[in-house]
Amino acid sequence: MVHHTQAPTILATPNHNILTTGNGNPVDDNQNSMTAGEFGPILLQDFHLIDKLSHFDRERVPERVVHAKGAGAHGHFEVTADLSKLTSAKFLAKPGTKTPVFARFSTVGGEKGSSDSARDPRGFAVKFYTEEGNWDMVGNNTPVFFIRDPLKFPDFIHTQKRNPQTNLKDADAFWDFLSLSHESLHQVAILFSNRGTPAGYRHMDGFSSHTLKLVNAQGEAHLVKWHFKTDQGIKNWTDAEALELNKTNPDSATEDLFNAIDKGEFPSWTVHLQVMKEADAANYKWNVFDVTKVWPHADYPLQKIGKLTLDRNPQNYFAEVEQAAFSPSHMVPGIDVTNDKMLQGRLFSYPDTHRHRLGANYLQLPINQPYRANVNHHQRDGPATYSQNFNNYPNYEPQSQDPKGPAQQLHDVRAKYSSVTLNGQTGRYPHRKSDDDYKQPGDLYRLMKGKEQDDLIANLVGHMSNVKNPEIVKRQIGHFAKADPEWGRRVEEGLKAAKK
Ligand code: HEM
Repeated sequence: MVHHTQAPTILATPNHNILTTGNGNPVDDNQNSMTAGEFGPILLQDFHLIDKLSHFDRERVPERVVHAKGAGAHGHFEVTADLSKLTSAKFLAKPGTKTPVFARFSTVGGEKGSSDSARDPRGFAVKFYTEEGNWDMVGNNTPVFFIRDPLKFPDFIHTQKRNPQTNLKDADAFWDFLSLSHESLHQVAILFSNRGTPAGYRHMDGFSSHTLKLVNAQGEAHLVKWHFKTDQGIKNWTDAEALELNKTNPDSATEDLFNAIDKGEFPSWTVHLQVMKEADAANYKWNVFDVTKVWPHADYPLQKIGKLTLDRNPQNYFAEVEQAAFSPSHMVPGIDVTNDKMLQGRLFSYPDTHRHRLGANYLQLPINQPYRANVNHHQRDGPATYSQNFNNYPNYEPQSQDPKGPAQQLHDVRAKYSSVTLNGQTGRYPHRKSDDDYKQPGDLYRLMKGKEQDDLIANLVGHMSNVKNPEIVKRQIGHFAKADPEWGRRVEEGLKAAKK
């Protein structure tokens, strides 16, 4: 009796020099359709033609609604520290343990054919194929995000994409939304620094951004933020270089990653954690579940825990990169969720979009299969069920007919979500009024050195010059000024000069 799904064989046949139809018949002629007589109409019986055209008609799956343009590679993660005090996750328990991974990097706002050097955050998603199932670290190359409530995400993304009437990028909508959502200022400062145009995917860091949780064998939880520091060194394009690459090589980052791995120059990232005792969260000066805030390293230093290395290019872009489905809700025992509202929204949104984009059985696709774990459940059927569908195995529980049937693990502490104490009433609560949304962006502005700061101002002025509505510009300058008066003044002066 087969208890788990197995990767289906979808490789070319051993006789790959013989062209066949989809159902495996040899094809006699791939150049000429079958017709009724030499000059007559095409025959419906030409299965090869009909199958070829109709499959072609269905070649595209919808592109990702965000992060549509990306590149990916295989590799491994090696844990280099003993994390057993922090987590019971087996892949993190013993220094030296290696876990296979698949990583995908992406831009966010552009379509699948858009430029790799666009000013945009970069996605940094890593799928860890552990023996206890897959854990997906779905982060960005920035430690913070623009907003902190999932209810705002679709509106936010609408303003970063195309105007519904003109189908053009819309600077007014872009800055209107941001200036009315001042919690975005921190991420705006990063996006319009040169970190908004990284020189390829190998030269940027990755962050979980959210506060996640690690839970140890005793059920004790710690709050953590993940940091992936590039071993290649940070390298960014200036705005001018990025704009030039938009024209000359819109696939520059995709090409750079593929070629580096092809040449054996395997990119790697040193992985660190910031760790906070769960009990400290309530009294910390920043709301730790607000994804627009960082934990300053002086308060919570980086602790080195491992290395991520990418050393194998995909064999097939569609099967491996396009069909990859990452989700923050794909977790393993020892790694848990927190009350970060954005994270909570994402836990739902990703598998939901995967079911729409790839189908209900997206976890059976080879790239998404938790192939190192045993998969046993009662889900059955649905389009593209291309495993053995659990053969004749019980498809319900509780059941008494098959003693080996998959059963819930009521007494397995590690299988449970860690519980948190809650109080208060249900409601739609804004983030704490005491949260200061200007201090961290202001600190970041003041931390930037001369040229970095000059570039930030120039990049902001370049983009905001496209805004037609002066009220929007005024409102956004007000936010810069509130974070640092000089920042506001310089953007204002820059915009005036640009107008002249
Ligand atoms: C992709 C939703 C916030 C990182 C996506 C996708 C959706 C989505 C629907 C497309 C997934 C697919 O088609 O496979 C949301 C929502 C958010 C949110 C609703 C807020 C409530 C964030 C944040 C981060 C992030 C804060 C980073 C910390 C990513 C990455 C991808 C992605 C890296 C691309 C994954 C890949 O390479 O396939 N997001 N997102 N998102 N998101 Fe988010």
